[in-house]
Amino acid sequence: MSDTHFDVVLYGATGFTGRQAVAYFQQHAPAGLRWAVAGRSREKLEALAMAHGATGVIVADSDQPATVEAMAARAGVLLTTAGPYSRYGTPVVEACVRHGVHYVDITGETPWVRGLIDAYDAEAARTGTRIVPFCGFDSVPSDLGVLAVVEHLRRTYGADTRSVSASYTVRGGFNGGTAASMMTLADTDPGGRLLNDVLLLNPADRQSEAERARSADLRGVHYDALRKVWLAPFLMAAVNTRVVRRSNALFAGWDRPYGASFAYHEAHETKSRLKAYGIAAALGAVERALDRGPVRWLAGKLSPAPGEGPSEATMDGGFMRGRYLGEAESGQRVLATMKAKGDPGNRVTVKILCESALLLAAGVDALPGGAARGGVLTPATAFGLPLLERLRAQGFDWQIEAI
Ligand SMILES: NC(=O)c1ccc[n+]([C@@H]2O[C@H](COP(=O)([O-])OP(=O)(O)OC[C@H]3O[C@@H](n4cnc5c(N)ncnc54)[C@H](OP(=O)(O)O)[C@@H]3O)[C@@H](O)[C@H]2O)c1
Repeated sequence: MSDTHFDVVLYGATGFTGRQAVAYFQQHAPAGLRWAVAGRSREKLEALAMAHGATGVIVADSDQPATVEAMAARAGVLLTTAGPYSRYGTPVVEACVRHGVHYVDITGETPWVRGLIDAYDAEAARTGTRIVPFCGFDSVPSDLGVLAVVEHLRRTYGADTRSVSASYTVRGGFNGGTAASMMTLADTDPGGRLLNDVLLLNPADRQSEAERARSADLRGVHYDALRKVWLAPFLMAAVNTRVVRRSNALFAGWDRPYGASFAYHEAHETKSRLKAYGIAAALGAVERALDRGPVRWLAGKLSPAPGEGPSEATMDGGFMRGRYLGEAESGQRVLATMKAKGDPGNRVTVKILCESALLLAAGVDALPGGAARGGVLTPATAFGLPLLERLRAQGFDWQIEAI
């Protein structure tokens, strides 16, 4: 391997989440790991590399695919925070697939990932290349939370899983990059035709009408007597539920489905009935606003610009808690809880993303599926429970109990 080769390349390193990922690598990369910062501005990258001890700098611009190709040729693992991904991400994935480079990102743009599956899944599967979108708050807590519940029910009761219902409470801020991605999504998928397809990410031959019927998105407000909370629609559910269903469908292809008629739903939880109705109304208003020109224009003006995000105090003061109510086919129930400190869209996302890349850099032989597993994967199928263990070692709390 030449001395211009890097174990991990961080592309989009100069952006708001990218800069946090660089700081995370400075603190957590194992000794001897060769890692480079990459992006379109040499000046900014050199300052960043100097400040945080990166071992290299690579200049690459998604508008010049040859530079992205040259970057991928020098990487073992590529981590990218250059988004909106439907704008800057496709040449990066294409180059990674061509060079057999494992890939992680923090996209929530499900229609874009559908396109990746159609274009690159078969080739990445053939070469054992792990292309893993959704390695942020969307959708790792949901995908790993469900996998851990399923594995627990199997181990404890010898049973497959009938259903998991997840509910979240969160506190945090909002990035300019996320606002830009939401606007781009509204432009590229008018009316949310793809976004609202509950089986959007399932392989084409695993989209049964029966699964579609039991997978309808939650609408309105409900009281949940088991968790003793009110449940309202959750903004990230349109991403997370599709990812969890893809995981189940991929495991089914490897003869290990979560359950014969597994169902997954996700909600925002709150103790206050009034707040639940407020959340439902606000989410409905956001969906409608993104489809209307003048309101969108105003939302664009009020949102932070790309490159900007919440204050350090907001990011440090945030948190996420996910609760996962699982039911075995044999009737037993468990309630699991995942908690993490920090703004979900920044501190939590950056930790998950970087730990995912470091796990891949440590070698895929030790991961579920070994060196042969590849494709456009999900966090659960690419990393499995080893990622949850890594996150627990970095402060995530995970508990599970029978109820
Ligand atoms: N999953 C989650 O939970 C989660 C959380 C937060 C963010 N996100 C997503 O992550 C992405 C990044 O968010 P962010 O807040 O970090 O955004 P940001 O601050 O706007 O960063 C975007 C990055 O893309 C780079 N870029 C722009 N045009 C490029 C080009 N032509 N070639 C190469 N790079 C280019 C920018 O480079 P310059 O610095 O040179 O401008 C910057 O580094 C967004 O898509 C957002 O939706 C997901």
